[in-house]
Amino acid sequence: MNKNSNYIKIFDTTLRDGEQSPGASMNIEEKLKIALALEELKVDIIEAGFPAASKGDFEAVSKISKEIKDSSICALSRASKSDIETAAKALNDANAPRIHTFISTSDLHMKHKLQLNAEEVYQKVIDSVSFARNLCDDVEWSCEDGTRTNMDFMCRTVEAAIKNGASTINIPDTVGYSIPDEFTNIINHLMNTVPNIDKVTISTHCHNDLGLAVANSLAGVRAGARQIECTINGLGERAGNAAMEEVVMAMRTRNDMMPYETNIVTEKLTKTSKLVSTVTGFPVQFNKAIVGKNAFAHEAGIHQDGMLKNNKTYEIMTPESVGVSESNLVMGKHSGRHAFKQKIIELGYNVNDNVIEEAFENFKSLADKKKNIYDEDIIAIIDDQVIRINDSIILKDLQVIAGTKGPQQAEISLMIEDKLNNITSTGDGPVDAIFNGLSKLVPHKAKLLLYQVHAVTEGTDAQAEVSVRLSEDGKTVVGLGSDTDTLVASAKAYINALNKLVVKREKSAPAKMSGV
Ligand code: KIV
Ligand code: ZN
Repeated sequence: MNKNSNYIKIFDTTLRDGEQSPGASMNIEEKLKIALALEELKVDIIEAGFPAASKGDFEAVSKISKEIKDSSICALSRASKSDIETAAKALNDANAPRIHTFISTSDLHMKHKLQLNAEEVYQKVIDSVSFARNLCDDVEWSCEDGTRTNMDFMCRTVEAAIKNGASTINIPDTVGYSIPDEFTNIINHLMNTVPNIDKVTISTHCHNDLGLAVANSLAGVRAGARQIECTINGLGERAGNAAMEEVVMAMRTRNDMMPYETNIVTEKLTKTSKLVSTVTGFPVQFNKAIVGKNAFAHEAGIHQDGMLKNNKTYEIMTPESVGVSESNLVMGKHSGRHAFKQKIIELGYNVNDNVIEEAFENFKSLADKKKNIYDEDIIAIIDDQVIRINDSIILKDLQVIAGTKGPQQAEISLMIEDKLNNITSTGDGPVDAIFNGLSKLVPHKAKLLLYQVHAVTEGTDAQAEVSVRLSEDGKTVVGLGSDTDTLVASAKAYINALNKLVVKREKSAPAKMSGV
C-alpha cells in the first residue's frame, strides 16, 4: 500500500504483545472474547498470539482463526522453520491468515542476544521470509530493535524481505527509544532507498518507554507508514505499546493535520477498553486519554460554565464518539423480566436464557439493596455471571466477623465439584481471614500479586468490583467478582482466580517465552 493512499490499517496486538505484560495472561475463552470485540471494532488485523511459545498460545490462535471471519488473523514466529510451521498450523482455519516473522537487526541484539553476525542474520531473513511465504500468502517481516539498527543494514534486510515475499515491513521501536523526528527519518530513508518499497505496506510498532509510542507511530504514518501496530489501553511489554484508542482518535480529531482514515468503529472503543481492563485486571488510569474515567469530566467551575455555553469550549471530541454515554438511570425494583432482557440486548450482550434468568434474580436482589440501578450495575451483574459459567468451585455462603478487635473471622461454605465444604478461619483483617480459609479449602502455592477494589457506580451502596491476581509456578491468573458487599466480592474474585488456576494446572502448558 503506497504513500498516496490515506487508509491506515490497524493491527491490534493486545493478544500477543499485550499479553506479554507481566501479569496480563489470559485464557482461551478470554482471548476469544477480546478477539470478538476487536472484530466488532473492525480492526484490520488481529495478532492472536505466538503459537510456538506454548500449547495455550497455539490453541488460542487456532480457536480465534476458526471463529473470526472479518479481520485477518496473524501469528508471530521467530526466524526458524519450526516456529513458522507451528504458526501456519495454528492459522489453518483462518479466513485471511498472516504469518509475522521477525529477527533482531541491531548490533547490540545480534551480538548479545542472537550471537550471530550480520551476514548470518541476513541469511536468516531470506530463509525465514521465503519459508513463510511458501506456507502463507500474507507475510509480515519485522526487524526487531529496528530503531537502534544501522540504517544501511536495515535497508539491506528490508530489501531482502521484500524480494522473498514479505508484503508488510514492520519497523519496531522495540525498547521505546526513538523520538518522532528520528522515526520520521527512518521511514523516509527506507522509502527513498529500498527498491520496491512502494509495493509493500510499511508498519510501525512503537513501545512506550519514554511515553512517545503514539507520537512515534503518527510520525511514521506522516512519513509514509500505512499500518499501525497497537493495543487496547496501550497494554504491552514494560511500558506498553501505542494505544489504539489514542492513535485512532488523534487521526480522527486532527484530520486537518493528519488526513488519514481507519475503519475503526470508534463508538466501541470505551466498551473494548473496559473489557480488556476487566479480563487482565489492569486498571485504566483515571486521566488516561480517550478511555479514562475523567477523559470527559469537567470539574473546574470555569470549565463547567464554558461547557454549558458551548461544549466545544473544552471538548475536542464528543464523549459519544468513543462510546461514553451519560450514566443511565435504568431500572428499579419494579422492572420486569422483559425490560431487563431488553436492557441486556441494548448493552450489547448476547447471552443465553439461563444467564438472563440468573442475572434477573441477582438484579432483583440488588434492587432491594440499592436505590438507583445504572447501566454499569447491570453490566457488573452480567459480567459476574458470565465469568463464573465454567467454575467448578462456587461460593455458597460467607459470614464474616470484622471490626477493631481481631483476629477477624470468616465462615465459608464452598461447593467444590458438587460437594459442600465448610471452614472457619481467622486472619489479619477480614479479607485475610477469607483468603486464608479459601487457601485451606483449595490448597495451592499461589502468591497474591494484586488485590484491587473499585466501585461500579457512585454512592455508598455501590457494587464493589474486585480483581485478584494470583501466580503459581510462573502461571498467572486474574479473578473477578462483584457484589454490594465488598467482602463477598473479594471472596468471589479469589474463588474465580482459583478456578482458573485449577484449569491452568490441568493443562500444564510450558511457561510463556519472554524477551520477544
Ligand atoms: O517490540 C518488538 O520488537 C516486537 C516484535 C516481535 C515485532 O514485539
Ligand atoms: Zn513489541
